[in-house]
Amino acid sequence: MKLARRLQAIKPSATLALNARAKALAAKGEDVVVLAAGEPDFDTPEFVKQAAIDALRSGFTKYTATAGMPELREAVCRKLEKDNALKFTPDQVVVTAGGKQSLYNAFQALLDDGDEVLIFSPYWVSYPDMVHLAGGTPVIVPTREEDGYAPDPEAIRKALTPRTRAIVLNSPANPTGAVYSRATLEGIAAAVRDHDCILITDDMYEKLLYTGEFLNIGNVAPDLVPRLLVSNGLSKSYAMTGWRLGYAAGPKALISGMQLVQDQSTSNASSITQKAALAALNGPSDTITAMVNEYRERRDLFVAGLNAIDGIRCRLPEGAFYAMADVRALLGRSYKGTVLTTSLQLSEALLNDFLVAAVPGDPFGAPGYIRMSFVTSREVLQKGLKRLRDFVAALQSV
Ligand SMILES: Cc1ncc(COP(=O)(O)O)c(C=O)c1O
Repeated sequence: MKLARRLQAIKPSATLALNARAKALAAKGEDVVVLAAGEPDFDTPEFVKQAAIDALRSGFTKYTATAGMPELREAVCRKLEKDNALKFTPDQVVVTAGGKQSLYNAFQALLDDGDEVLIFSPYWVSYPDMVHLAGGTPVIVPTREEDGYAPDPEAIRKALTPRTRAIVLNSPANPTGAVYSRATLEGIAAAVRDHDCILITDDMYEKLLYTGEFLNIGNVAPDLVPRLLVSNGLSKSYAMTGWRLGYAAGPKALISGMQLVQDQSTSNASSITQKAALAALNGPSDTITAMVNEYRERRDLFVAGLNAIDGIRCRLPEGAFYAMADVRALLGRSYKGTVLTTSLQLSEALLNDFLVAAVPGDPFGAPGYIRMSFVTSREVLQKGLKRLRDFVAALQSV
């Protein structure tokens, strides 16, 4: 069947594909160590679930305004002011079915064919494809592990063109776990200040921070707030990936455009989920603190274990819940008679023969790396480390 031309540049999500394969193996009874997931293993807090149950029981099961219930948009504004010192009004907020939809709608609303969006690599897999789907052109600006993945202002200046409509910032970052410092954000702000583009900040991992402080670029450059689109959601911080709740706050005209896209596609996010989100945003944050403390311990255990394996090197992530391991020293070695030349091949061998699901770095713009999430129990992490050691021991130099 002939499909639309714009789909030709789109790849299926590598993380979802690997997860699906790992789950299929597990369904066959295989003992798979799944380090590919991008979701917390914690359960949604009980008080949030209760709000959804109450919503159902009271018949709150109809359409809401496309942009979300007014009370929820107000709660988002209060959150942004309290946590992020950013002031928005409810008509500058749209509630979406997940952070993914916020970003997708933003690109749909912003881009004409050939408009450019600056994306730093390594990047979350979906950014370039979302830009392609909107007819835009992703312009990849590489960052270096040696710099803690901080973007270089000079590289940004060079990448900006008259067609640059937006730049995407993601800190804490998926897949690197890097967190932008004040100085880094100041450098970015200086580089884009004179260029009329939208700053899209994907703050999805804001609460998952192990060291340092969370800053939005609007905090260090208040003059840029009128051009700021903050995208966030409850998936990671409240362990609510399946509920589908995100939001965006930004310039009224852009938010209206995003709402228009949503009006003609999905309409409002689920009414029940919205009630749950309202409870989450208005409720206590102690569940987040407990979750982050546990993840910090797992991060320390897992990253130390990775670094103890000869041929694997892993930077300590400051945020999010992924370990990005450099496996370049293993490439060029052979496994079962085949020389492994890419992290993709390495991930496949790991999954097929050692039952460890780790995502290759290639689709994140990080060839030679693999991404493993540490949002699983310590026992599973230990088992994963043991299998990685066995895998490395099974490789042969050529
Ligand atoms: C960087 C980043 N942004 C946004 C999202 C989207 O989250 P949601 O599940 O709310 O759509 C993810 C999910 O993995 C992510 O990693």
